Amino acid sequence: DKGEYRHFMLKEIYEQPKVIKATMEGRVTGSRVLEQALGTEAANLLDNVRHVQIIACGTSYHAGMVARYWIEELAGVPCSVEVASEFRYRKHVIQPDTLFLCISQSGETADTLAALRQAKKAGFRAALAICNVPGSSLVRESDLVIMTQAGPEIGVASTKAFTTQLTALLIFTLALARHNGLAEDKEAEIVKALHLVPGQVSDILALNAGIEEMSKAFMDKFHSLFLGRGSQFPVAMEGALKLKEISYIHAEAYPAGELKHGPLALVDSEMPVVTVAPNNDLVEKLKSNLEEVRARGGELFVFADKSAGVQEEEGIHVMQLPEVHEITAPIVYTVPLQLLSYHVAVLKGTDVDQPRNLAKSVTVE
Ligand code: F6R
Repeated sequence: DKGEYRHFMLKEIYEQPKVIKATMEGRVTGSRVLEQALGTEAANLLDNVRHVQIIACGTSYHAGMVARYWIEELAGVPCSVEVASEFRYRKHVIQPDTLFLCISQSGETADTLAALRQAKKAGFRAALAICNVPGSSLVRESDLVIMTQAGPEIGVASTKAFTTQLTALLIFTLALARHNGLAEDKEAEIVKALHLVPGQVSDILALNAGIEEMSKAFMDKFHSLFLGRGSQFPVAMEGALKLKEISYIHAEAYPAGELKHGPLALVDSEMPVVTVAPNNDLVEKLKSNLEEVRARGGELFVFADKSAGVQEEEGIHVMQLPEVHEITAPIVYTVPLQLLSYHVAVLKGTDVDQPRNLAKSVTVE
């Protein structure tokens, strides 16, 4: 039931404060992660993990890409991320003491399951699943499971599954990091930041009208670029995927530093550039990049931390967002991009919940 909402996707976007909170419940106190909540075997299996291999598809793959930044920064453990359909069809090497981490909303994605089954033959320390469907194949075949508490996701374009995957992945990262010497006060700082996320997501939802206004600039466009740096690069990828899927506008994501290595040549008045920038560094660099194309009418849409003081000016539209901790920023910054694609799709009149050519769960190759 969509209730008061026009589409399931919008309803699911608005459920995020609640389901992110539910995903934290029983797994974190005010300042700590409760490792036992990840399973009685967790302490044993997370000890001596020397490498994390993440496997997923689509949106779940983007969650894995964010997690890589967290795992290497906080746990100091090398982490590789690969789409399941590539991993399963190439000769791959699994290092000893690898934690094999599959991320899947449905737990039934054929490529992800095939990758897990193959890797089992090669051997690894443990298989961890981050999944939204209890009793799914992925859950049954893994040693450790962290369920996302998103509830059923009906819209084909994944929204609340993604932000709850990120929540579960950050909790997992902190547990792993503790085995690798993360200081208690650092853990407390991040857990405190995590507790702020549901409220920050609500603050973003309150900006819906402004984002809807912004979406009008995309309605008659055929292409767009999404830029992000660091852990916001996968957020840009996810934003681009959402726009492609439901509005059918071609969108490409780049790490911001790559702009001048090619894609800058594409920028003109017909190519809006969306930037997720929790701090000012990136925006300053981008502004200087864009000077070159300003004459050609390149327009920039910036989602920025209000503390960064990014100002509106000609050709630069700024959406001021609440101040967020750098670690939790990818969770919060995903939400305005979801709303942006949603409104563009509604303006274009596409079938938002059931985009052409796509299925909710890809259980065949
Ligand atoms: C995009 C989307 C897909 C899925 C992908 C993996 O909005 O929903 O890209 O993320 O098909 O599905 P799961 O997570 O069920 O393995």
